Amino acid sequence: MISIKNLNKAFRTELIETQALRDIHLNVSEGEFVALTGPSGSGKSTLLNILGTLESFDSGEYLLDGQAVQGLTDRALSALRNEKIGFIFQSFNLIKDFSIYDNIELPLRYRGFSSAERKQRVEQALERVGLAGRRSYLPGQLSGGQQQRVAIARALAGSPRILLADEPTGNLDSLMARQVMELLEQLNREGCTILMVTHDPEQARRAGRHVQIVDGMLSEATVYQPLAVNQ
Ligand SMILES: Nc1ncnc2c1ncn2[C@@H]1O[C@H](COP(=O)(O)OP(=O)(O)O)[C@@H](O)[C@H]1O
Ligand SMILES: [Mg+2]
Repeated sequence: MISIKNLNKAFRTELIETQALRDIHLNVSEGEFVALTGPSGSGKSTLLNILGTLESFDSGEYLLDGQAVQGLTDRALSALRNEKIGFIFQSFNLIKDFSIYDNIELPLRYRGFSSAERKQRVEQALERVGLAGRRSYLPGQLSGGQQQRVAIARALAGSPRILLADEPTGNLDSLMARQVMELLEQLNREGCTILMVTHDPEQARRAGRHVQIVDGMLSEATVYQPLAVNQ
């Protein structure tokens, strides 16, 4: 589903050039749950943004469902993104003075769904994250965990096949983080492919696969297998 080869990305300003990603190789199959860890500044968000076609790259190859992403026009990129990809961010990114309902509905308007279809999708997504009763609240009237569930509902309403989550539990206390993690795991069991940046070793362990990035270089994290204890 995702195939990346020899991918490089640098950020250039007048004064400095930062090589954010170096020769990245990554294959993600349909249905995987991949945790991405690494120190701050190592390139995690840059990689996620490139995967989500929000950011361009300098060289290398990115195939999404067999289709080359490099060289697509902005218009083709946003069509691809809207159809296939859902985003969840650490800071929720909800619109403060829009109701929960309107927040979830907005991206569906951009996609040109009919009002009946939008209504059905929003209601289904709200049910899915257990917030149907909060539809007319403003984001500020919800807890952090609930706001993140709204952001997940907003992503889900577009029926994405891939969810990209950048530290989705980074602003949550441990109970709410666990609830969000459980929701993501459920979505993954239902077939959604997930790539999640996390700082939490426990979450990385629970994901089906763990890759790490250090100084822009990506590698599979070694699986920790405790030594067998004599019976
Ligand atoms: N828009 C940008 N302009 C210049 N440098 C950037 C930009 N975005 C990220 N960087 C740099 O690229 C490197 C990787 O950043 P990032 O992907 O945000 O790391 P992480 O998410 O792992 O903390 C960092 O050195 C960061 O300062
Ligand atoms: Mg980041």
